[in-house]
Amino acid sequence: MSDAAPTTIYLKDYTPFGYLIDSVHLTFDLAAHATRVTSRIAFRPNPDARDRKFFLHGEQLRLIRAAIDGAEIAPEVTDEGLTANVPNAPFVWETEVEIDPGNNTALEGLYMSNGMYCTQCEAEGFRKITFYPDRPDVMSTFTVRINGDLPVLLSNGNPTASGQGWAEWTDPWPKPAYLFALVAGDLIAYPDQFTTKSGRGVELNLWVRPGDEGKCAFGMEALKKSMKWDEEVYGREYDLDVFNIVAVDDFNMGAMENKGLNIFNSSAVLASPETSTDANFERIEAIIAHEYFHNWTGNRITCRDWFQLCLKEGLTVFRDAQFTSDMRSAPVKRIHDAIDLRARQFPEDNGPLSHPVRPESFQEINNFYTSTVYEKGAEVIGMLKRLVGDEAYSKALNLYFDRHDGQACTIEDWLKVFEDTTGRDLTQFKRWYSQSGTPRISVSESWDSGTYTLTLSQETHPTPGQTEKLPQVIPVAFGLLGPNGDEVRGTQVLELTEATQSFQFTGLAAKPNPSILRDFSAPVILDHGHSNADRAFLLAHDTDPFNRWQAGRSLAEDNLFRMITQDSAPDGQFLDGLLAVLRDGDLDPAYRALMLQLPSQSELASTLYDSGHTPDPLAIWTAIETLKQATAQHVQDLLPRLHSESLVDAPYQPDAEQSGKRALGNAALALTTRLDSGTQAAAEYDRANNMTQQLASLACLLRAGKGETQLSSFYDQWQHDRLVLDKWFGLQISLASPDATPAVALGLTQHPEFNWKNPNRFRALLGSLATNHAGFHHADGSGYQLLADWLIRLDPVNPQTTARMCTAFQTWKRYDDKRQALMRAQLTRISETPNLSRDTTEMVSRILDA
Ligand code: PHE
Ligand code: ZN
Repeated sequence: MSDAAPTTIYLKDYTPFGYLIDSVHLTFDLAAHATRVTSRIAFRPNPDARDRKFFLHGEQLRLIRAAIDGAEIAPEVTDEGLTANVPNAPFVWETEVEIDPGNNTALEGLYMSNGMYCTQCEAEGFRKITFYPDRPDVMSTFTVRINGDLPVLLSNGNPTASGQGWAEWTDPWPKPAYLFALVAGDLIAYPDQFTTKSGRGVELNLWVRPGDEGKCAFGMEALKKSMKWDEEVYGREYDLDVFNIVAVDDFNMGAMENKGLNIFNSSAVLASPETSTDANFERIEAIIAHEYFHNWTGNRITCRDWFQLCLKEGLTVFRDAQFTSDMRSAPVKRIHDAIDLRARQFPEDNGPLSHPVRPESFQEINNFYTSTVYEKGAEVIGMLKRLVGDEAYSKALNLYFDRHDGQACTIEDWLKVFEDTTGRDLTQFKRWYSQSGTPRISVSESWDSGTYTLTLSQETHPTPGQTEKLPQVIPVAFGLLGPNGDEVRGTQVLELTEATQSFQFTGLAAKPNPSILRDFSAPVILDHGHSNADRAFLLAHDTDPFNRWQAGRSLAEDNLFRMITQDSAPDGQFLDGLLAVLRDGDLDPAYRALMLQLPSQSELASTLYDSGHTPDPLAIWTAIETLKQATAQHVQDLLPRLHSESLVDAPYQPDAEQSGKRALGNAALALTTRLDSGTQAAAEYDRANNMTQQLASLACLLRAGKGETQLSSFYDQWQHDRLVLDKWFGLQISLASPDATPAVALGLTQHPEFNWKNPNRFRALLGSLATNHAGFHHADGSGYQLLADWLIRLDPVNPQTTARMCTAFQTWKRYDDKRQALMRAQLTRISETPNLSRDTTEMVSRILDA
């Protein structure tokens, strides 16, 4: 552990900063190892603050000069910042510092990537650029001058002047420092333009490295669609003359919403049919939308402090999900989101890292960019919308924008606009922000001469720091089906607010079948108490597409569960139900493809653990393989038809329709490969003219233990393309057999193209190791050891990415004693590494405290 005891920051300790800022002027003299940053900041005392201590954050800065109103001073400087005596009146603060972007491997602050200068300031990176009150509630306009001999010099806002070797930018909208950005490089523009609904012309540019111009068209279209959608659905217009997006290869996250200058991980924006899969395209469209939507939810209205992170992230994820539902298929998007939430957020919320959507303390805020804050945060907004209704939701949002534009806000401000518009008391609802853990709902029902009674009970298990749990407000979307499959009660929302509550439905002719939690109306674990006959009935008849899919999913899960715990065989109820759905040519191909997707190994591990079993990774893997094999045999006769239904004549488009067809075709191909040992997959590989087909057929071959030649020709074909090469690394590890996985991963770490300091490449390799469930949990512990070796190596270089990847160990307590001991040993080894970063120290200690 590092010697300095980690400091914990608490929400309850919030106080406003003692000074307000009227303007910020920054000058950058760029040089790879000695960039000069000169700041001129107009401060004045904050009338709303009591504490007048003048502390400015600053890390890894070499102070050259500081002055107040032109007179030089010698402030007291520590590793974390400086303090100075300042006038109790407005004053102009100036500093000159020197920084070393060329050696900044952490990718926070100003750093370099392939010769390009680039910044990342959220959450607390601006303090690595200059001395500043680096907190989101301090907002100001910025003027930035960049001096540097690179052709493209960008910052936030509008360009105001430029000449040979310099450019000046002015951002008229007050913003916190975390939204600051600067980019300088030899970049090519992919230009376009957009006219807002009030007639403002906006110049759009996507800036990329030379050679990537051919991968910009899709991202640009997605941007224009997002701008239009936000005008139509939320009434929000863009507010600057230019909107710039820059693609950068070295980036810790997906993308960043800096005002007027979004910076993207190149994997989250660059796309072409030859190099990107349908899933890549969909993700890119969603991330472009997400960052653009932040302009209003995040930038114009920002967070008072980092505890309020979900204020911007939960809302913006919710908005991007609405966008995707509108652009593509709403049921398919909802199912994907439920799958992801269960795969990522549920394990987090039911393990040592569990925290509320609005955490109340942290050591390192970077560790709280979690699926709880983002995805559960978005679910909370979805529940609120469902409870108040669509109309009240949009009224509340208009009030939010009117009332809080230009402010740094809290969850209390957010909920208040809903209370004020609807008159509803949201005190109990607010528990969704403060109480951690996933509520579990159990169901019982009774039937008595025409009256059906549904009783729902809720319970949340204790989580770290929270033993007592109170009932939440849970909107349960619900419908009833009659014995012949007709819907006898359409969807309505039941509000579960007590620990146990009953709902009665009268005047029914026969005992109905309930369809509960339609559209996945709340982020909860639902224990139906359904029999497989009930599930098969819903799979055949439910009018709610989510619950129809869920019925099939539950059948599969139950079957796998019994195969693992009771040595059962694959059973007919699931397979016949599946066959019927696959035969239904009226059903969206994407939806049928989802039906064919079995629960993942880690999801099954969670289910087993939840019901008191110790998950055996190899047994889980074997059961899934067996059920897939049985599925292939059971639906064999249908496979040629699925294949032909999936053929696309038109030129490649990554839209919902075509990608749905390809998803179904490739799901069918995976089954076919189990029967023909790869003949068709090899032919598909040779025929493939887009990455979706090429990668899917290669995956089929690798899964069948074939494809060695295709794998090496794939490498030869794509070795120049870094994003495709990430896929090449990842695929081999994801699809390696459980026994071989750690060795395959180890072998690839020795590959000359394993540039481990690049986060995408590191994740492609070690992230794939961590998500290959049976392979990572190899009984000899070699998977754990390999990951720990690399986390220890990466930590001094890039703490943020290291800390995130420690989550691979968060479920360690679920496994058998031997595996627990092996994982504990690796976690301990990491924690005892000298000079371990604050990020990783916090993560490992929370995980070990389980
Ligand atoms: N704010 C970014 C987003 O969600 C995520 C991010 C956080 C990026 C921290 C970089 C650093 O859109
Ligand atoms: Zn975001």
